Amino acid sequence: MNEKKLNTILINSKVKNIIKAHDTPFFIFFPNIMKKKIDDLKASLKKNYSNSQITYSVKTNYLPFVVKKAYSFGAYPECISGFEILIVKKLNLLNKDVVINGPLKSEEDLIKLSKLGCRINIDNFTELEIVQKVAMKLNLILEIGIRIYTKLGKKTWSRFGFNLDNQEATKVAKIVKKKMPNLKIVGLHMHIGTNILDTKIYKNASSAVSKFAYFLGKNDLIDLKYLDLGGGFATNLPFKDYKKKIWNVPTTNQYIKAISNPIKKIFKNKLPKLILEPGRFLVDESFFLVTKVKRLRGKTLDSVILDAGVNILPSGKYRKHNFFKINNKNKKIKKYNLYGPLCMQSDCFRNNIKLNELNKDDVLYTSYAGAYSFSQSWNFIQFSPPVLAFEKKKFILIKRKQNLKDLLSRDINE
Ligand SMILES: Cc1ncc(COP(=O)(O)O)c(C=O)c1O
Repeated sequence: MNEKKLNTILINSKVKNIIKAHDTPFFIFFPNIMKKKIDDLKASLKKNYSNSQITYSVKTNYLPFVVKKAYSFGAYPECISGFEILIVKKLNLLNKDVVINGPLKSEEDLIKLSKLGCRINIDNFTELEIVQKVAMKLNLILEIGIRIYTKLGKKTWSRFGFNLDNQEATKVAKIVKKKMPNLKIVGLHMHIGTNILDTKIYKNASSAVSKFAYFLGKNDLIDLKYLDLGGGFATNLPFKDYKKKIWNVPTTNQYIKAISNPIKKIFKNKLPKLILEPGRFLVDESFFLVTKVKRLRGKTLDSVILDAGVNILPSGKYRKHNFFKINNKNKKIKKYNLYGPLCMQSDCFRNNIKLNELNKDDVLYTSYAGAYSFSQSWNFIQFSPPVLAFEKKKFILIKRKQNLKDLLSRDINE
């Protein structure tokens, strides 16, 4: 969705009314926007590749309300850590369709997940040895996926999984077959990075994964059930250092075609299940951050201190968040530097951003605040902000503001 549409949704929610009742800063979650993204992805998959499963990358925003909503809209959880697994279990969503990734899975978790039959993608050799022992102990033939990578572009990831380019991945598949009797490879996983604008990279990734799966199949090294192409789809918010004029985000269909066509070309009528794990794409647009102008400084009062810092919206450091004034009575346009309250030089959202003239206590908001905001935020000189959701024409509190008791609850000699 573009910014204009998102802004209209926020303004139509009568956000002004809740600003009176809540201290800023706070986040607002619109489940309907997330639903629209999931529906859009579902529709594209139905058209292009119906044997598919959408999972939601929990790390992107692990607020329980959000994870539950994603599930209710049709996206199963994808977890990369024990901490996320605990959240998903607490929500009663831990079942065989949950996808497990990440480079450091505990033995305890692997036992629990193996018993449940979750889809576990193995990241490294040590993990493979551990999971073989676990499966032997449980007297299981455990179906696993292996994570692989190949060189695709300058910014694509290459530090997770097994290398396709130097045959490490082939070697591992042979070791599993010959020396790990309790394991059976049934899937391949590749996550190529985040905010990927170029669909050719997906085409190449999908082609590499499909060819490798085909090769393994021919050599009796895989009993292919699924291919997992990870996440990484971009949203409509450029990086501050992006050099090109237009940040051109492909359509959902363009992403899905790039991924599905190479699989269909190779596997024709016997298509494996396609799993996707988007995070940013599903949640980024559904969150807004609301903040207030607290101080103005400088000769022309053009440097503004907001009550939200980059600690609660880390993407503010490197992405070009636009800010909008909720009450636009003052029509005079001025350029501003927008800072947070953090006593850190880097606590700056924007330089020279054009805004209607600002005064103390004016309310600003920014969109695309859902991905890696809450989940990567850090506590620094301020309490963590509350989160509201807008549902059935009402705002509800889904996470209260942190207080001193929360903050000190782990300190021994308080
Ligand atoms: C394995 C895996 N899957 C999915 C994702 C989600 O990525 P994105 O939010 O870019 O869609 C990530 C992000 O780091 C990841 O590591």
